[in-house]
Amino acid sequence: MAAEINILTEIIRRRRSIFPINYNQEEVPVEVIKQLLENANYAPTHKLTEPSRFVVFRGEGKKRLGAELARIYKDTTPPALFLQKKYNSITEKIDQASCVIALNAQLHPEKVPEWEEVASLACAVQNMALTAEALNVGAYWSSPGLITQLGEFLNLAENEKCYGFFYMGYYEEEPAPVKRTPIATKVTWVED
Ligand SMILES: Cc1cc2nc3c(=O)[nH]c(=O)nc-3n(C[C@H](O)[C@H](O)[C@H](O)COP(=O)(O)O)c2cc1C
Repeated sequence: MAAEINILTEIIRRRRSIFPINYNQEEVPVEVIKQLLENANYAPTHKLTEPSRFVVFRGEGKKRLGAELARIYKDTTPPALFLQKKYNSITEKIDQASCVIALNAQLHPEKVPEWEEVASLACAVQNMALTAEALNVGAYWSSPGLITQLGEFLNLAENEKCYGFFYMGYYEEEPAPVKRTPIATKVTWVED
């Protein structure tokens, strides 16, 4: 068996954002979705506030989400800026995905600042993305501007906020390898 560090490094470096246009129609089984969510639950969390909250949309629920996102776009876009193509693409993207998970956080301002809760949520999302990669499921984090208007639809409590959507689907075409500028350009070493 390959050393754990080799497996971990391989999965981290192979992970890519895979977008709905590249998904096929194969359904991601509930057991797989649950595996991702279980691993999300192991994200670090300052003062153990455990802020991450998820709403899983599949089947008819997913259709209702698409309709709601399209409605918000229509209702909040001035007629002069409204694009029919953009409107259509909102439901199209949701249709292409097998499952869409709303990424929410429960905030505890009396305990930790918001950024720490969002950081914990992001760690949870990375756990999901790496688990998806290991299971050959395509996924990506989408953060459209209209997530600020989903409180009622998502049934969010006053101290909860939505930070985006995790789209999931199986895919065939291998993405290009990841592009990053070298880490050496981003690190300062202080040794004496
Ligand atoms: C917090 C967050 C929000 C993102 N929101 C979007 C988005 O709204 N639309 C999009 O196309 N990609 C979004 N992405 C995905 C990035 O575009 C993607 O990570 C980046 O292009 C690097 O590609 P890779 O994930 O394949 O390494 C988001 C990523 C993060 C971490």
